[in-house]
Formats: sequence, C-alpha cells, structure tokens
Amino acid sequence: MKILIVGSGGREHALAWKIAQNEKVEKIWCAPGNAGIGEIAECVPIGAMEFDALADFAEKNGVDLTVVGMDDPLVGGIVDVFEAKGLRVFGPRKNAAIIEGSKAFSKELMKKYNIPTAGYETFTDADAALKYLETSEYPIVLKADGLALGKGVLICKDHDEAVAGVKEIMQDKKFGAAGNTMVVEEFLTGREVSVLSFVDGKTIKTMASAQDHKRALDNDEGLNTGGMGTFSPSPFYTKEVEDFCNQYVFQPTVDAMRAEGREFKGIIFFGLMLTEKGPRVLEYNARFGDPEAQVVLPRMKNDIVEVMEACVDGTLDQIDLEFSDEACVCVVLASGGYPVAYKKGYEISGLEELKKEPGVVVFHAGTKLSETGAFLTNGGRVLGVSALGEDLKAARANAYAAAAKIDFQDKHFRHDIGKAIDEA
Ligand code: AMP
Ligand code: GLY
Repeated sequence: MKILIVGSGGREHALAWKIAQNEKVEKIWCAPGNAGIGEIAECVPIGAMEFDALADFAEKNGVDLTVVGMDDPLVGGIVDVFEAKGLRVFGPRKNAAIIEGSKAFSKELMKKYNIPTAGYETFTDADAALKYLETSEYPIVLKADGLALGKGVLICKDHDEAVAGVKEIMQDKKFGAAGNTMVVEEFLTGREVSVLSFVDGKTIKTMASAQDHKRALDNDEGLNTGGMGTFSPSPFYTKEVEDFCNQYVFQPTVDAMRAEGREFKGIIFFGLMLTEKGPRVLEYNARFGDPEAQVVLPRMKNDIVEVMEACVDGTLDQIDLEFSDEACVCVVLASGGYPVAYKKGYEISGLEELKKEPGVVVFHAGTKLSETGAFLTNGGRVLGVSALGEDLKAARANAYAAAAKIDFQDKHFRHDIGKAIDEA
C-alpha cells in the first residue's frame, strides 16, 4: 500500500511513524514533510495548500490513501479535490471541516442540537459588538471566527481589554478575514481535556484523552503557543465525564453534522472544559492535535491504516479501539524566543542515541538537514520528545530524561509538563 501524508509538523511525523507500522505499507510520501519525517517517508516539495499538484502526485504515483494532518487544507477543501478525481483520502470534506473553520458555525450547531458549550453571541459588526460589551460580565472571551493559527482567542479581563480586542480582531484585522465575524463567549473555568476521535460519518470511536500545555513558560505563564507539551491519559477524564460526553457531546455532534447534510469523516478533536456544572465543548478541531497526536498515537494498539480505511468506507462500527495502559508524556523542545522571534539553523545533537531508548520516540516538528546530513533547527517548535511509562509520573521522568540528552543552541522547554497532575 502507498500512502501520502499532507503536512510538515510533529503531528505528521507521529502519523507517519504509526502508519509505517502497518506491514502492508510499502511506501510513504509526505508533502512537504520535514527532516525527521524524511527518515521514514520520502518528502515531496509540494505545499499543503497546492491541492491540484498534490492530487496529481497521488494519481501519478498510485497512492492508495492520502492522510491530511493539517487544518488549513481540510478547511480549504482538499478532500473535495481528491474525491473529485476518484482518489481515496482520509479527512472531512470542506462542508464538514467547517466545524473547525468557523467558530460561529460550530457555536450555532451546538446551540441548535443542545450540545453543552459556553453561552455566546456572534457579531459581524464591530459597533454592535462594542455596544454588547458595555454591559457584559467579565472576564469574557473574544474569538475570531476563522482559522488563526490558534491565536484568534482573546480572554479579556475587563471592558478596556475587550475594546482593544474588538479593534484587534474586527477593525485592524490582525487575523485577516478570520476576523470578519467574531464570537463573544462566556468565560468558563475548570480543567481542560482533549478527546480525539475517529468518525466515519455515522459512528464515532473516541481515543485516549490528553491534555495540552499551551503557554510558553512554566506555570502557564507567557504567551499562547501551538502547544509546549502533552500527556495522556488525563486523570480528570473520569468514567463519569466520559459517560456524560458519550450521551451529550460525542454522538450528538456526529448526528448533528449528518442532520445538517455535512456528514463528517475523519478526526474530530473535542476541546472540553470540565466546569463545575459539567463538561462543556470549548472548540472542535477537524484533525489530530499537535502535540496531542504525539502522546495518543504511541498508546494506540490498533493498526491506524485499518481504522482510517474503516472511516473512509463507513465501517468503523466493526472496529474496537484499544489503547495501552501505559501513560505517555511529550515535552516540546522549542527555539528560544518562540512564539515571537527566534533563530533557526542550529545543529541538534543527541538524536541518534535516543533511537535505541525503548519507549522513547522523538517526533520532529521543525528540522531540516544540513549539507553534511546533520539535523538543524528549522522552526519555533523543533522536536517533541514522547516517552511511555507505567504511569504519568514515570512517563514524565522518562520524557525529561530523554529531553536532557538532546541539545541545540537556545533550546527552550517547559519543566512542568504533566506536573500539576502528579501533585493533584
Ligand atoms: P479555542 O481555540 O477555542 O480552544 O481556544 C483556545 C484556548 O482558549 C482554550 O484552550 C482555552 O484555554 C481558552 N478558552 C477558549 N474558550 C474559552 C472560554 N469560553 N472560557 C475560558 N477559556 C477559554
Ligand atoms: N494542540 C492544540 C491543537 O492542535 O489545536
């Protein structure tokens, strides 16, 4: 079997690593990929938004299944382009990827189908939003409607901050057209949990829970990032929470999408807040999380290609997902200065030795090869060091021990991934 993966980050490396475990897979390409992915797949210099070029490549090379890792191409309709050419592809069509691509859409869907979420209002006019914010309760949350690299969410502690937020999103268009519409949302407090799931249009099968750490610095200080580390499972995702979500969130979301004529096939990532009043959906994503994939996939026992094919074929009801009892922790090694300004091109040491370490996998997020074949830093997030352990504490110790063996100039990481959990 020949597989094409679309994307270039740590998530796509984790997907390639997991897909490569299937014995029937003889060849993997990744477009555009990165240096780490290049060790298990052939990287192809085609951008993730070049849908026609990607589909041509898949057609010419006899690709049996294309797996789209990233949000932008999914929201942009890559699956529709592939399907129009009769190519097999794993991911939602454009009319279903909107569950991530438009926050106004997802909020309306949840309201219409009684899926628990934060209260909200939607605005397309800045003056109307400003008027509304005069009498709101604070803190309050402002969200640009469209994709904004995870940065389009502003938590405003008072009216002044909210006015500045409206200016940023709707008037100055800091996030471009993503800010033409804005959602104003009730501020929720509680533990955040991510639950990723496979969906075949009708059936949903959830994976092990995980939690991300989005802030750049220890103790959740500093700026929001794409994610500085993850752990799985979340001890806060109890049987009671799971039962609630099964009844009120997971299947109802899949059914709602079908009822709207937007059958969803692929991954739904539920961002949940466990509030005092019960679980609430913070957001939906239409793909694996990054770096959630880096802790969930190492625990997954199933053959991922088989599960993805079942999603494409609508036979997911015949599959039982199984996860190892071990815990997994991923520590992201970033370039100093990320997420604002950072330098690239530093040589990375220690990677080769870690390949021999059982239970440890290093996923590359932003790396490239030098002319002499050395790995160089090539992004804000450089590597994700994932390690298994018998429980979270052990996994955490293993991940940090492995992370300590890797070095590059300006290496920056958080020291407390999963830490609050051991102490909870
Ligand atoms: P989102 O992209 O919608 O997941 O938002 C990014 C982050 O903002 C979430 O992971 C939360 O930490 C935070 N957030 C989003 N919505 C809310 C809310 N209604 N109340 C509190 N925090 C929120
Ligand atoms: N780690 C959060 C995300 O992938 O959206």
